[in-house]
Amino acid sequence: MRRCRRQFPSVIDITTHIYPNSSATHGGRATTVRVIVGAQFGDEAKGKITDFLASDAQYVVRTGGGPNAGHTIHVGDEKVVLHQLACGVLRRGVTGVCGPGMVVNPAQLESEIQALDDRHLLHGSIVISERAHVLLTLHQLEDAWEEQTRSNQSGGAGLGTTQRGIGPAYRDRYGRWGLRFAELVRPDLLEQRLELLYASKPYLSNLPSREELQRQLSEIGGRLAPQVRATEPILWGAIERGENIILEGAQSALLDVDYGTYPYVTSSHPTSAGALVGSGIPPQELDEVIGVTKAYATRVGVGPFPTEVGGEMGEYLRRVGGEQGATTGRPRRCGWLDLVLLKYASRLNGFTSFAVTKVDVLGGLDEVPVAVGYRLSDGSEVEAYPPAIAEELAKATPVYRRFAGWPDFNERLRERIRREGAHALPDPLRRFLEFLAVQTRVPVEWVSYGPRRDETVWMGRGARTPTAASLSPWSS
Ligand code: GDP
Ligand code: IMO
Ligand code: MG
Repeated sequence: MRRCRRQFPSVIDITTHIYPNSSATHGGRATTVRVIVGAQFGDEAKGKITDFLASDAQYVVRTGGGPNAGHTIHVGDEKVVLHQLACGVLRRGVTGVCGPGMVVNPAQLESEIQALDDRHLLHGSIVISERAHVLLTLHQLEDAWEEQTRSNQSGGAGLGTTQRGIGPAYRDRYGRWGLRFAELVRPDLLEQRLELLYASKPYLSNLPSREELQRQLSEIGGRLAPQVRATEPILWGAIERGENIILEGAQSALLDVDYGTYPYVTSSHPTSAGALVGSGIPPQELDEVIGVTKAYATRVGVGPFPTEVGGEMGEYLRRVGGEQGATTGRPRRCGWLDLVLLKYASRLNGFTSFAVTKVDVLGGLDEVPVAVGYRLSDGSEVEAYPPAIAEELAKATPVYRRFAGWPDFNERLRERIRREGAHALPDPLRRFLEFLAVQTRVPVEWVSYGPRRDETVWMGRGARTPTAASLSPWSS
């Protein structure tokens, strides 16, 4: 990363509480390439943070995943959920890129574009990488078949995928059977690629007619062709021109196929390293890796979740936090912030700062528990590295530290924060954030206290390696 080139304003500049434009915050420095990474199990409000920071970006790139993502943004009174489009498309002058690392369902992409256009919300432009893979209905059929097979084997639960065909599409990609957008828009290559793909799936009995699929894909390919481009040179050119790029992560570090809670993971790499592979931007061009975490935690689907809370409190968090899946509508499992997993995600991704979201949801609670370690089934204790075996992680007993709660985020408090900035955040919340930063050694730079665009406050840039003392200018 280009840390050495960076000039940080003094933390005294905290009075500039709403994130100002790039010339003010970057000391006039040119390009900023930022990666936004989910630090938990997904749905941390990456969409909201990306949209917020996109106000001074020229490109926003989705680097992995596909229609399994659901990123919610509130534009005025309108609520938008984006699945495959990068959040940048909501802003004038921004190009939203479906990056090379994605698996994109082209029919769903067309519907998403059409729906946004119908609502007059499509303000940016759209480019699709020729290297992105095409996700087909047959991948969804396979996803359903796999879930059924897993459930039969394990006597109940599968992985709880979003049933959008993600696993099978990535399997075809890495098995080298895949169809990419480069071939989708080439009628002369499409037939041959589809024949190969069909030949690779003798175990699927209910495949749709290949001829019919080819006809549909040729039509879609014809319509999308003007937007299918070599996106890496576009981004390299943007870097040379000094433009700002955001790599918008989908899913989350703990759903990473290698570093997440395997096998209860997705099939891509939603980490900072994955964002580089998924965009074609080299590591030394990265300036910032922003980890997005809720002040508590949620998970959709099956898999270990040591700090999950059931009963009335779980129901309370779900209701007040509106924790309903943005893609599948499934109720999200809720629990407390887990510093073991957060420290692990910080090391894995190299977070340079955190955006902590949904602090308002915990407003009004007497106390806020945070897991600072686990006791494992063999009697050992861990603080920063979770067990690799999902069954072991599921049996971990969290050790909690309890923080004093903060007041309800009523309209008066929200108005004060909008007016005065981070200084108006309640003291108990500031202590909670300071603890998070000191424990993970990553400064908290943004705090989100509501779903609206103007409900994000800039904390100022703390020292790069936070300690209680170095963080005190913004935490006191
Ligand atoms: P993503 O997948 O990481 O983009 O997150 P989702 O959009 O799936 O879920 C985040 C949800 O929280 C959405 O419904 C947002 O509108 C909402 N949200 C975002 N930030 C805040 C916040 O600070 N407070 C509250 N109460 N809701 C928020
Ligand atoms: P965003 O970008 C939350 C979860 C699924 C399932 C597992 C595998 O909105 O944060 P998949 O369909 O990818 O094969 O499912 O991953 N999952 C998500 N959970 N947010 C997401 O995306 C997710 N994308 C996948 O629930 O447990
Ligand atoms: Mg989501």
